[in-house]
Amino acid sequence: MKRYAALTGTGAFVPERVLTNFDLEEMVDTSDEWIRRRTGIVERHIADDDIASSDLGIEAARAAIKMSGIDPLEIELIIASTITPDMFFPSTACVIQSRIEAMNAGAFDLAAACAGFSYALHVADGLIRSGAHRTILVVATETLSKIVDWTDRTTCVLFGDAAGAAILQTSEEPRGILSSYVAADGVAGDASVLGLPAGGSRFPATQETIQNRMHFIKMRGQEVFKIGVRVMAEAALIALEKAGLQPSDIDLFIPHQANTRIIEAVGDRLTIAHERIYINVDKYGNTSSATTIVALDAAIRAGQVGEGDKILLVSFGGGFTWAGTVIQL
Ligand SMILES: CC(C)(COP(=O)(O)OP(=O)(O)OC[C@H]1O[C@@H](n2cnc3c(N)ncnc32)[C@H](O)[C@@H]1OP(=O)(O)O)[C@@H](O)C(=O)NCCC(=O)NCCS
Repeated sequence: MKRYAALTGTGAFVPERVLTNFDLEEMVDTSDEWIRRRTGIVERHIADDDIASSDLGIEAARAAIKMSGIDPLEIELIIASTITPDMFFPSTACVIQSRIEAMNAGAFDLAAACAGFSYALHVADGLIRSGAHRTILVVATETLSKIVDWTDRTTCVLFGDAAGAAILQTSEEPRGILSSYVAADGVAGDASVLGLPAGGSRFPATQETIQNRMHFIKMRGQEVFKIGVRVMAEAALIALEKAGLQPSDIDLFIPHQANTRIIEAVGDRLTIAHERIYINVDKYGNTSSATTIVALDAAIRAGQVGEGDKILLVSFGGGFTWAGTVIQL
């Protein structure tokens, strides 16, 4: 029997508190004009101090479960994509499992930075196609505000907090994930280009790591920018080819929301019309692996896409990792 991983529910959640570019002007030497022109970002949402990534992920998961109409006990596996887990262990996926009472599910975290949602879809697709599982919850949940250096203007203006979730279920109809592609380059993407150096086994927390601000995101923006444009376009074309489709077959293109200049450059390379490219980076900033699923959920709930429509997701992030997914609703 041929099986497909159908997308039967999506959900998203962002914390209420909004931090505008004008708020940032009060915090670091920057301006609304600089941030808008270089990134397209106008505002981002920031979690309160007592909120962790699982708290956002649970809300997104509940919304996805509700849309799909399943009982949480039907979920056989939970994959949580996050670079801001609540703690090293237990995994954020286990915390979510207990809170949504999905007690029949296995649960693990997946670390592929901003490409994590498409990576998780890749894993879920393989497990559903193979017959290993029938119902999988994928959650992408991030509180980048917790690992951003709020004194570093070159990074703190870029990121925000959000979560998205998707329910994937076995279908005999050819729908859901039509193709997926994942890739990585650990040579080009070492931690000095984009990473969070300390807090793991290489540099456990010491007074020195704290003094040297090594527990915060470090990034060489221009290098990341150039590679991002190239590999996101590449991931898009490979995912399309695997699905036997052309860019013109796509109803909605949802690229990773890091920067409107990157999004436009990728769109131009793919010759996808601007009106078919989804952009919400202005409202949320870069929320790492949550960006594409937050956007997809909004597009579905707004009726911008519906049954039968084909959607292309591509993303790129630390590692470097990059990935593309073609979904038919
Ligand atoms: C970060 C990024 C917006 C910077 O834009 P850029 O056009 O490359 O800008 P530069 O880094 O060359 O900096 C230009 C100038 O602005 C300054 N600058 C940096 N951040 C600033 C800020 N927030 N406000 C004002 N000025 C700033 C720099 O210090 C530099 O000044 P200088 O010319 O006097 O040295 C851009 O490189 C980018 O988006 N990169 C990709 C980041 C990304 O997507 N990361 C996540 C991947 S998942």
